[in-house]
Amino acid sequence: MSHDDFPTDRPAVVTCGLPYANGDLHIGHLRGYIGADAFTRALETLGQQAAYVSGSDMHGTPVAVNAEEEGVDPESFALRWHEQYEETFPKFNVEFDNYGHTHDETNTELTQEIVRTLDEEGYVYEDEVLVAYDPKADDHLPDRYVVGTCPYCGEKARGDECDEGCQRHLEPGEIENPTSVRTGNPAEYRERTHKFFRVSEFADYLTEFLDDLEGTSNARNQPRQWIEEGLQDWCLTRDMEWGIDYPGAEEEDIVLYVWVDAPIEYISSTKQYSDRVGSDEYDWEEVWKNDGEIIHVIGRDIIQHHTIFWPAMLEAANYNAPRAVAATGFITIDGKGLSTSRNRAIWAKEYLEEGFHPDLLRYYLTTTGGLQQDVDFTWTAFQEKVNGELVGTIGNFWYRSLLFAYRNYEGRPDVEVTSEVEERIEGAIGEFREAVNDYSLRECGLAATRLAQFGNEYIQRNEPWKLTDDDPERAAQVIRDCVQIAKAVGVLLEPVAPGKAQALWEQLGEDGSVADAHLEDALEAPPRRFEQPGELFEKIEDDRVDELETKLDEKITAAAEQETESDEGDEAEETDMADETETAADTSDLEPLLEDRISFEDFQNLDIRVGRVEVAEGIDGADDLARLEVDIGFETRQVVAGIKQLHDLESLSGTKCILLANMAPAELFGVESNGMILAAGEEADLLTTHGDADIGEKVR
Ligand code: MF3
Ligand code: ZN
Repeated sequence: MSHDDFPTDRPAVVTCGLPYANGDLHIGHLRGYIGADAFTRALETLGQQAAYVSGSDMHGTPVAVNAEEEGVDPESFALRWHEQYEETFPKFNVEFDNYGHTHDETNTELTQEIVRTLDEEGYVYEDEVLVAYDPKADDHLPDRYVVGTCPYCGEKARGDECDEGCQRHLEPGEIENPTSVRTGNPAEYRERTHKFFRVSEFADYLTEFLDDLEGTSNARNQPRQWIEEGLQDWCLTRDMEWGIDYPGAEEEDIVLYVWVDAPIEYISSTKQYSDRVGSDEYDWEEVWKNDGEIIHVIGRDIIQHHTIFWPAMLEAANYNAPRAVAATGFITIDGKGLSTSRNRAIWAKEYLEEGFHPDLLRYYLTTTGGLQQDVDFTWTAFQEKVNGELVGTIGNFWYRSLLFAYRNYEGRPDVEVTSEVEERIEGAIGEFREAVNDYSLRECGLAATRLAQFGNEYIQRNEPWKLTDDDPERAAQVIRDCVQIAKAVGVLLEPVAPGKAQALWEQLGEDGSVADAHLEDALEAPPRRFEQPGELFEKIEDDRVDELETKLDEKITAAAEQETESDEGDEAEETDMADETETAADTSDLEPLLEDRISFEDFQNLDIRVGRVEVAEGIDGADDLARLEVDIGFETRQVVAGIKQLHDLESLSGTKCILLANMAPAELFGVESNGMILAAGEEADLLTTHGDADIGEKVR
């Protein structure tokens, strides 16, 4: 089965992963929330009925651990953050139709109802499981109360997630070398009885589900591997007090695992919206129990929850299946991973305090890379994007066109748009429609930018300022065309930059909200008259950027210094446990070393060269493969590498790499490969040089 193109005649819901109510929001969160907001707006521009819902994730150890550290009860702790989030989102033009939280009545009731159904349908059983326990604290250590080593990839992991490694979900008892977060002591494993959901029975269902699933390819493909490796049942309960009670087990000191009630908030939040506006206007049951369109926008670290556990739960409880899971890449800062503890982050607050318009960040985050690529943030790149595309292309075009129109015609000249321009606008509409159906926000935004670019060229080519005296009719025609292009750019840019698009809308003398405009409106004439326009985008100056880069460096350095100081202070307490985990590296998951030795001559036979990536692009039809053109001094080699999903291909060009140049040629997906790029590990960490070796130099 394949899905009908958007817009469909069924209601849609777009969700974004719920933020844990446990700390300040940063640019990494914003990418997802802005992305899902923009996607909802884009669907609406197509004429699709859509609601955008989410809520705060109040339960679980992510909240409990932080509340405990602060010495407050988890409920008031989480509510405080929840309120802060509610205030913050609108400041980024992120407008939810409903934003609830997982601890409210709607979600508590619905969660218990769904779990009851799972139980009644025979999908739940009890079993003994080993749970980490801290003898000193005399308490169990669910999830984030314990840290240790991931049994799958050997990276440092938290109790229920391999957050720094393979991103897998970990079941209770799976983490190796468990250490208590409470006391820093090694944890013991003790047997406990818990409830399990028979996820393993859903392998066939999930395989079919994945065949139909739309969204990003990482979300559609990664789970297949997990299914092939064999699905484990999923522990539904935890030894803690904070959370939603297992229905019927209110007396016992176990609660539902946070990942049970969190996604159910997607439904609860939709229901609250529906209850508020009335089911005639928006019917949550149509979406969740019938065949509406469910679209989840999430971070790529929670693909497993959204493509395995969640759809299995929905299926078992007789709910509708998600149509799409769009999983975004991470944000890096100046090329390094965002880290809240190291303060290598741009906080929502900070961005706003700098006084930048939210739409600038929205545009940067949505159009810099594809949805599933990691996007690097630097203030310099931000400046380039803003000054180049928003100021230089869009702002410049809008202002020139409207000002010329205002000065000479007090608004839009009273003639029809030429067919050339009408066709160009239709082309942009087509690109936009296709982009939405491909879940490509980047292309949505760029459809607008490219249209504005055309507009600039159109003015340049027609030079209306020369025509006003000699050929006034022709001048009026050109300006009329430009005003229409300006309006169309506004309609197409609205999902990404709603505030700026609205300002343009008003400059054009349009009533109402550009958010209510549909694609057809891009071709409708704006009102005849409008007022003198103003410039909508402002250039960011170089010294401003220097200042921002310095500030960022300083705060990262300050955090690093503080970390060293506190490490020194803690030394006495942390004893030698830390050293032990540091030095005794766990190699059990590494490929074993080869016993056979090769001769120096054998090595000499490998012609390994320093190269520079010139071009890097995906290969159509191949999920993992990228086609690279690598300059190795003597010539440029075409190479096929399995790195498509692991790298932001666009940012690769210009980077140095190491190439095995005398590899026998091979053909993959019809593309000839003439060499092999060297990379380390599962994530294909690309090898490069650390000094200034020249392109073409031999590695020896
Ligand atoms: N709070 C979780 C996180 O930040 C996301 C929950 S998303 C939902 O990783 F699916 F559970 F809703
Ligand atoms: Zn792992």
